Amino acid sequence: MKQITLLDLTFEPFISTEEIERTVIAIAAQIDNDYRGRNPILLIVLNGAFIFAADLVRKINIPIRLDFIKISSYHGTASTGEMNEHFLWKSNLEGEHVIIIEDIVDTGHTLHYLQQKIGAQHPASVEVACLLKKPTAYQYHDTLKYEGMSIEDKFVVGYGLDYNGLGRDLDAIYSLKVS
Ligand code: IMP
Repeated sequence: MKQITLLDLTFEPFISTEEIERTVIAIAAQIDNDYRGRNPILLIVLNGAFIFAADLVRKINIPIRLDFIKISSYHGTASTGEMNEHFLWKSNLEGEHVIIIEDIVDTGHTLHYLQQKIGAQHPASVEVACLLKKPTAYQYHDTLKYEGMSIEDKFVVGYGLDYNGLGRDLDAIYSLKVS
């Protein structure tokens, strides 16, 4: 892996495809174990989580249902905290076991906004599975049930994550190079 340039920024290798795969397999095994017999609905947060979700659902062995949400609060390399709702799930969540699938949790604003919206439909339970979390940026006190990897508060791209629309297609994760 070598460094890459996207627009005006340079990124260096950070998390390998092998490490990502190990993390995805571990989360899938936990979900299999915890949700047997419960047919959970996985709510996939687009765009960023599409690659993580595609890999995760194929490693999960229990029956699951999928639905999608498109929401954004990021602009460039910073979270704005202001939510743009593009569309929300179609499923009726009342009485269902819901798992929100996120690529990365940064400040946590997106997640808490979604948890409130989902909670209003009275699901039986709501948990979160994220590939990456930035603990020092996170502004809430709860713990997420399935946290893949904790990373320092730096901007990353690849494996679904973008910088102004670029970099989602990279199969590993790269971090912003600070010169
Ligand atoms: P939060 O609301 O601050 O937790 O931000 C969550 C969303 O911001 C994620 O779903 C990503 O789409 C985006 N995001 C947060 N950190 C990064 C990053 O390092 N690279 C790319 N996108 C990010």
